[in-house]
Amino acid sequence: MALQAPHLGHGVGLRPRHFPRFLEGRPEVDWVEAISENFMGVGGRPLAVLERVRRDIPVVLHGVSLSIGSVDKLDTEYLAQLKDLVERIQPALVSDHLCWGVHRGRYVHDLWPLPFTEEALAHVAGRVAEVQDILGRQLLLENVSSYLTYAESTLTEWEFLAEVAERAECGILLDVNNVHVSARNHGFSAHAFLAGIPPARVGQIHLAGHLDTGNLLLDTHDREVSDEVWALYREAIRRFGPTSTLIEWDEGVPEWERLVEESRKAAGVEREALAARNGERRFVSQPPHPVPLPGGEGSGAP
Ligand SMILES: [Fe+2]
Repeated sequence: MALQAPHLGHGVGLRPRHFPRFLEGRPEVDWVEAISENFMGVGGRPLAVLERVRRDIPVVLHGVSLSIGSVDKLDTEYLAQLKDLVERIQPALVSDHLCWGVHRGRYVHDLWPLPFTEEALAHVAGRVAEVQDILGRQLLLENVSSYLTYAESTLTEWEFLAEVAERAECGILLDVNNVHVSARNHGFSAHAFLAGIPPARVGQIHLAGHLDTGNLLLDTHDREVSDEVWALYREAIRRFGPTSTLIEWDEGVPEWERLVEESRKAAGVEREALAARNGERRFVSQPPHPVPLPGGEGSGAP
């Protein structure tokens, strides 16, 4: 099944600091992404805010606890609550991470990478299909930032992610900052990562800031997007075309105006990248200028 993912434009995370603005009906962004778990099984103000926002602009639900790669049984209670929220909010997209974070009922509260093996691939693809059946809609899976790799891996991360998406017929939430962070930490090429992702599977992009400790990049979401990540975003848009893009800023959430400025910067970079892409396509599709052959017709030679 082809990916069903609308182009929403440029959004920001729905965070409590900016709830009043949303309650006043002044979102000033194209869409918002809400962390699913913060609104599941709860009523009160958070849900009221989410429902208010949903009346004004599209909402995307993004989970952190599905733990799609774990070998524990899928948490049916969690999925029932997520399904309730999905039915209530009717989000434009639903996503979580390609990772694991629970083992024998114990949560690590972190997004740990998977070994990139055929065994893990079959396991994850089967579980994604199960989740999609329960939710009755497609899921998008996000690549995580990572700080370790497994000796058992036989595939690259991008081969693994692309194959999960193809087998499970799900979407990809491409976190461009995570690509950059993991590429630097593990010494692979971020360009090879982007080149290995099937464009038809990409339904959303994340951009965020990270901390450079000197020998490691940490995915901190506590600052503006770096120049290297903007460059990689430009490359991603040229490859994948217009894609719903979110600024993730979770620690030290800035003033609303600063957040919107970062989101508008993303819109500007996307416009430039698309103009460049269209220019390249026009150039390639131009018929070559006819060059008279020596001695050929019209050359004047006998
Ligand atoms: Fe992300």
